[in-house]
Amino acid sequence: MRFYTIFAFAASATAAAIPDAEAQPNVGSSTPSCKADSREIAISKAAFLKAMIIPPRPSQYNDQVNIIPSFNPDATIAIDYNGKQVKYGTKFQMTETATQPNVVFTAESDRRYADYNYTVIMADPDALSPAGTAPGPTMKNFLHWIYYDAKPCIERKQQPNAKDQPMYMLPTPPSPQAHRYTFLVYRQPKGVYTPPSVLQFPQTSGTARGMFNVNEYVKAGKLEGPVAGNYFLEAVPVAGGTSS
Ligand SMILES: *[C@@H]1O[C@H](CO)[C@@H](O)[C@H](O)[C@H]1NC(C)=O
Repeated sequence: MRFYTIFAFAASATAAAIPDAEAQPNVGSSTPSCKADSREIAISKAAFLKAMIIPPRPSQYNDQVNIIPSFNPDATIAIDYNGKQVKYGTKFQMTETATQPNVVFTAESDRRYADYNYTVIMADPDALSPAGTAPGPTMKNFLHWIYYDAKPCIERKQQPNAKDQPMYMLPTPPSPQAHRYTFLVYRQPKGVYTPPSVLQFPQTSGTARGMFNVNEYVKAGKLEGPVAGNYFLEAVPVAGGTSS
């Protein structure tokens, strides 16, 4: 727990000096500073609204299009696939996302939560295809990945581990319209946490991935947030062209 003490100390300094590398052995090189940037927090919220991951107002939640009813981030999440950053709608090719990315999220600016654990969910609301196109989001959400007991500022490297439930599954968007592959970071309740079984939620038989109800899972796990989020776009490559 030594690291968290150091981080809390660093975050309290207005100059936000970055603790030396020895004090932060698990922080990845892609995010040299782990301080949440209020400007980027605002950008993430605007991006979720623009991409319709959230509705303009919670009461306008549309289950065909939106993933979550509201988003009031207090942190940011950095994701990279072999060095290529996910930044609010970055376009990826299927070949680039075949193996799980590196992930790190910042601590919340509210320091009461500095030592809490978090759950990261990656889901695709546009399976089989986005709302308004055929066949439509009949498998919304397609669950790609959940891992729990994650700590702020500790980079999750590419290897699978026991707290992946379920493990990363590569995107294979079956439509030429881009899917919004969305990452959401939720604060877990205090103490030892047992994640709900994803099988408790509406699932397509066999895959345990399709029709995953993010909001019901969050409720069952008593998760708070999301406190951070990001997304990328990916479509099936069209013959002779590039994916959109
Ligand atoms: C974080 O998770 C560990 C392992 O389950 C647990 O012992 C600890 O109490 C959790 N921290 C908080 C603040 O809930």
